[in-house]
This record gives sequence, structure tokens and C-alpha cells, in this order.
Amino acid sequence: MTTASTSPLPVGATEQKGVPKIDHLGIAVNSLESAVPLYSGLLGENPSGQEEVPSEGVRVAFFGTGSGRIELLEPTTQDSPIAAFLSRRGPGLHHVCLEVPDLEAAVERAGAAGAGVVPPGIRSGAEGRRVAFLHPRTAGGVLIELAEAAD
Ligand code: CO
Repeated sequence: MTTASTSPLPVGATEQKGVPKIDHLGIAVNSLESAVPLYSGLLGENPSGQEEVPSEGVRVAFFGTGSGRIELLEPTTQDSPIAAFLSRRGPGLHHVCLEVPDLEAAVERAGAAGAGVVPPGIRSGAEGRRVAFLHPRTAGGVLIELAEAAD
């Protein structure tokens, strides 16, 4: 029974544009000031950039690695999702980001697979990219960020 042609495509994949890849792992931290030196030491390099994302109430730092990146997220407001995560769970792995070629198609496919998008849906995320988040309750206990590939 070889039915490769009828297998469902992965989330975000289209016939023309290929499959998603892991873009980064998001790690919630209490303070970039203390976490950046730790990760700089672990990875042997400084972050490629830091940025504030006011809509999410976070300041982030990205580290490049050989196969995907690491994003450290520090809350900038008391009511940001990262502040809530930190008070509930403490610092640690927060999300997995998949880069997808077509965000609308990826969201639609995720919905068909039973995964729900966190309101307000598609939004502007770090690095000015269009992103959406899939709720962990509907995605196997993992918060999944879908980020559209830059052209
Ligand atoms: Co992210």
C-alpha cells in the first residue's frame, strides 16, 4: 500500500512550495540581561539581534545556530503572555516556530487537522514577519508558532 500521493501534506506545505522547517525555539526568560550572557556562553556567539515587539509585550533576542535558531523572550509588561507563562511555569521552553511558505494555507491546514489558532489570529511578529500561534491545548501540548517565510 504505497499511497504517497494521497498522504496529507504537512502543515503549511503546498504542492508548489515545499514543507515547513523549524525556524526557532522560543525560550521564556525572566531577564535578557542575565539570560543573554548564559546563552552566548552556551552557543559561543552573541545574539544576532534584539528587538521589542510591543504587540506581544516582549523583548526578544535571537541566536543563530547551525540548524534553526533560538529566541529568548523577556516580558515587558505585567499582562503579556510571557509574563503569564513565567508566573505559571517559570523560565523554559515556550514555543516551537515552524517557517511556512504560505501562512494562510498553513492556518487553514492546521484548522483542518484540528488545531485552533490563538486570537487574534494572523499578526505581525518579531522581525516584522507575519505569524500565527496554534493553541497548545489543540496541538499536542506545544505552543506552535507559524511564521511566513520571507521572500
Ligand atoms: Co517565536
